[in-house]
Amino acid sequence: MPAGDRLRVGVLVSGRGSNLQALLDASSRPDYPAEVVVVISDRERAAALDRARAAGVEALFVNPKDFGDREAFDLALVSELTTRRVGLVCNAGFMRILSPAYTRAFAGRAMNIHPSLLPAFPGLHAQRQALDHGAKITGATVHFVDDGPVDTGPIILQASVPVEPDDTEETLSARILAQEHRLYPEAVRLFAEGRLAVVGRRVTIR
Ligand code: GAR
Repeated sequence: MPAGDRLRVGVLVSGRGSNLQALLDASSRPDYPAEVVVVISDRERAAALDRARAAGVEALFVNPKDFGDREAFDLALVSELTTRRVGLVCNAGFMRILSPAYTRAFAGRAMNIHPSLLPAFPGLHAQRQALDHGAKITGATVHFVDDGPVDTGPIILQASVPVEPDDTEETLSARILAQEHRLYPEAVRLFAEGRLAVVGRRVTIR
């Protein structure tokens, strides 16, 4: 597919970047309809920035301390993404709550991945929450970002994984992560192909 025809994707990260890597790997396939054009981190030493550089993708650190409040920081993100003509933003382990200034700018064009079957276990430590609740099944969710409190927004794709009796947070996280790496590139592909329709809270796949 010619580069100019591909959906331009920005990825927001804070840490390790394994989901970013799944998106970079998908982008490197010539028949994939989207390409990551910029990766932005709120943490200077995020390993995800190194993954972007290794893939030849622009890697930016935007320091929250340079801004007076959350909204000013979020508007700086909007500005960086808009300048690069990004058509979709993917939060991939981006550990900040985004203000309405941001969610409005990218309404219907921002996704997040979360390590649970939402609406169960939103927020931090979703895998630990599942273990603490004695859940037998948990999983991964890709959803559109809306202006709800945390990890709300219309659900695009989900995958379930079993919770095994001897699971630790680490073993459960690894099982969920394998599903995340499959789901996120698939959700981006569906969006890029114009196959997602949102009606109210429901996302249908055409
Ligand atoms: C992933 O498990 C992602 O689902 C989670 O952070 C991890 C980031 O890993 N996100 C959240 O919990 C958001 N609420 P990664 O940096 O290796 O992609």
